[in-house]
This record gives sequence, structure tokens and C-alpha cells, in this order.
Amino acid sequence: MAVEKITGGIWSVGILNPNLRVFDIVMTTDYGTTYNSYLVKGSEKTALIECTHLSYFDRYLDNIRAVCDPSEIDYLILNHTEPDHAGGVARLLEINPNLEVIASQAGSIYLKGITNRTDFKLRVVKEGDSIDLGGKTLRFLSAPFLHWPDSMFTWVEEDRTVFTCDFLGAHYCEPFTFDYHITYPEAYEIAFKGYYDAIFGPFPAYVRKGLERLKALDIEYACTSHGPVLTRNGRLSYTMEKYAEWSAPRAAGPKDVPVFYCSAYGNTRQLAKKIAEGIRAALPDANVETFDLIKHPMAEMAARLNASDAFAIGSPTLNRDAVQPVWSLLSHVDAVNCAKRPVVLFGSYGWSGEAAANLKARLEGLKMSLFEEPFRVVFVPSEEDLKKAEEFGRRFGESLR
Ligand SMILES: Cc1cc2nc3c(=O)[nH]c(=O)nc-3n(C[C@H](O)[C@H](O)[C@H](O)COP(=O)(O)O)c2cc1C
Ligand SMILES: [Fe+2]
Ligand SMILES: [Fe+2]
Repeated sequence: MAVEKITGGIWSVGILNPNLRVFDIVMTTDYGTTYNSYLVKGSEKTALIECTHLSYFDRYLDNIRAVCDPSEIDYLILNHTEPDHAGGVARLLEINPNLEVIASQAGSIYLKGITNRTDFKLRVVKEGDSIDLGGKTLRFLSAPFLHWPDSMFTWVEEDRTVFTCDFLGAHYCEPFTFDYHITYPEAYEIAFKGYYDAIFGPFPAYVRKGLERLKALDIEYACTSHGPVLTRNGRLSYTMEKYAEWSAPRAAGPKDVPVFYCSAYGNTRQLAKKIAEGIRAALPDANVETFDLIKHPMAEMAARLNASDAFAIGSPTLNRDAVQPVWSLLSHVDAVNCAKRPVVLFGSYGWSGEAAANLKARLEGLKMSLFEEPFRVVFVPSEEDLKKAEEFGRRFGESLR
């Protein structure tokens, strides 16, 4: 986002990063991203809302200077202290040591670790607290777990403008500020959904609370920290409807029990099919599909795992370990909502068979609920092994009734 006026006394001063393709190691950003930040000038005081990623600090400072001298800023509001927004705080404090930093209680604790400083003015705000800038009042709304414990929203009643940080954001970069200028809406939609899944998917109940907070406001502009500013006549209602849809509690229906596996020579695959048959026998209405992990997009597999009621996962042992796609799938687990999720492990091995123990340790780390010990066979499963695999699946299915 280049420097642009949002409305009277409010400017966008963030950074465009159209070429970014990976964010926080784990998120792909096919359409780049923006690190948004906003200056709010009242008749008496000036506030900066969100800071920026340390890597872009010098350019960011130039953007601020296009509106005011950084030494004139009285407050830095950090709705969320993740380093893509707070990474530049220490440098900003060097330039303006009189700056008063405003954050939630949790944010104030994280800031000490992020800046490695305690010698600056720091004000902790809570739900309903406000700061008067002169003709503009910043009111702070608690919005925890959207998406860190520190998160809050800042509402400027006079301009009907809310600052939501990551909430309703998207890793999406076009050289425009407002949503009604988006040139590639389909691409934006993909980025918006991907962002929701990765960042807010684990916190549906908090998302619903966040939406309630926003619905109570008469919003003209929702200034997020990534992607375009959302407007009343543009995409604001639509984005909120999408969040409501995606965060809605799941309707009760048939159980979903996917069986994931990898198999070099078909041995673990045979076990997967038999375990699935056993689960189906115990739960005739359940949706029990088998998935060879190298034949499906990992994002789809991860979404299925995260949405499952229970699941099975199998790997052969290669080089004393489970295989990479299985680890990759487990690295995408929504650890918050998958705690206590019932799971079974299985796999074929040749001589040492470490896959099972290694995966078991990982599932325990994820606090999942492992049903029985992993089901293992040596090399090619015999008729008896396959019968036992089916019984194993059946017992697992019965435990889910
Ligand atoms: C490259 C490679 C490395 C292997 N390393 C191990 C190993 O470290 N320990 C072990 O018990 N088996 C090892 N095996 C044997 C496989 O686990 C065994 O062949 C198993 O039956 C393969 O099952 P699958 O057909 O489901 O892939 C290895 C096999 C291959 C191809
Ligand atoms: Fe964040
Ligand atoms: Fe962010």
C-alpha cells in the first residue's frame, strides 16, 4: 500500500511487497502481500496504527514522512505484535523516543521480547479504553486469538473506520488501496480464503466473536494489515459473510474418517484399504475414503484431516523414518482443534520399522488420541495380516460410535 488518504485525517502509509512468494515459512503468497500501516491525525495528537516488518523499515519511514515528521507521532497503536507489524518498533523508538506504545496486556508482554527494550513508554489498554486525538477518538475493542492472544481492534467513531490488523486481511498486492479497485477479483478471493484457512481456521469461535464486534459498528472503512482496505460499498459485507460461513459450527452429519497413506510397493496401501473396510463395517454411514498422499494436493489433504472426526495414517519405514509426505501432512495439522482427535497408525517395514514410533511421538506432541498401538507388518502383508488389519479398523470404527 503506497501513501494514500483513506478519509479526512487518516492515511495509509504501509508497504507493498508484490514479489513475496513465501510468508512465515509456511504460507505461499502467489499474489505477494502488503504490510499496511495507518496514520491518524487529530487536532491535538497523531497516532500510527501498526508498524511494519523490519526489512522494509527505511521505505516505511519515507512513507510516513510524506504525511508528517516521525517525531510528531504521539502514539503507536499495535493491534497485534507479530513481527510483520511490530518488527520495526525498536527502530521507530530510536527515531522518536517520546512515542507512547499502546497494546493489549498480552501484546505488552510480547513487545518486550520483540524489541528487547523496556525503557519506552508503554500503555496497556483493555476493552473500551480510549484515547482522544482531538476530534478523533481511538477506542480499543478486545479481539483475542484473532490470531494471537494479544489481538485487538481499534475503532475511530468519528470516521466510522476500524483497524482490524490481520482480521479480514489477505496476502494480496495490487498497486491500489481500496477494494473497489481490485483488478483480479478471482485471485483476491483465492488469497482471501487461503489467508483465512491458514490464520483464522484454528479459531472459529473467536472469529464469530470478532464478527459480532464488527457488526455492532457502523463501518465505512475496515483497514486491515494485509491487502486492500475494505469499504462499505465495496467488499466489506461480502468478506464478513464469508468469515461467518467459514467459521460456522459444523452441522451434525455422517462421520468423516479419512485414511491417509504412502506406499512404495503397495504394502502399506493394502493395509490402508483393509483398515478402511473395517471402519466402514463398524460405521456404515461414515465417509471413509483412502488417500494416497502423493496423488493429491497437500492443501486438500490437510483440509480433509483438519475437518475429520477421526483419521488413520500409514507410512512405510524408509531410512529409519516415516516418509516425507506423511510428515508434511502432519505439519499442516490445526493443532488447536485437532487436540484429542482419535487416530490410528499403521505401516509396513522391512527390518527396523521406526516410522510407527516416530509418528506416535508426533501425534502425542499434537495431543491427539491414539487408538491402540500402531498396526505394523513386515514387508508384504499375509492373508492373516490383512484380516487383522480389517479387525483393527473395525475396532477403531466401533470406538467412534
Ligand atoms: C529406500 C528404502 C529405504 C528403506 N529403509 C528402511 C528402514 O530404514 N527400516 C526398515 O524397517 N525398512 C526399510 N525399508 C523397507 C520398507 O519399509 C519395506 O519395503 C516396506 O514393506 C515398504 O512398504 P510399502 O510398500 O508400503 O512402501 C526401506 C525401503 C526402501 C525402498
Ligand atoms: Fe499475524
Ligand atoms: Fe500479519
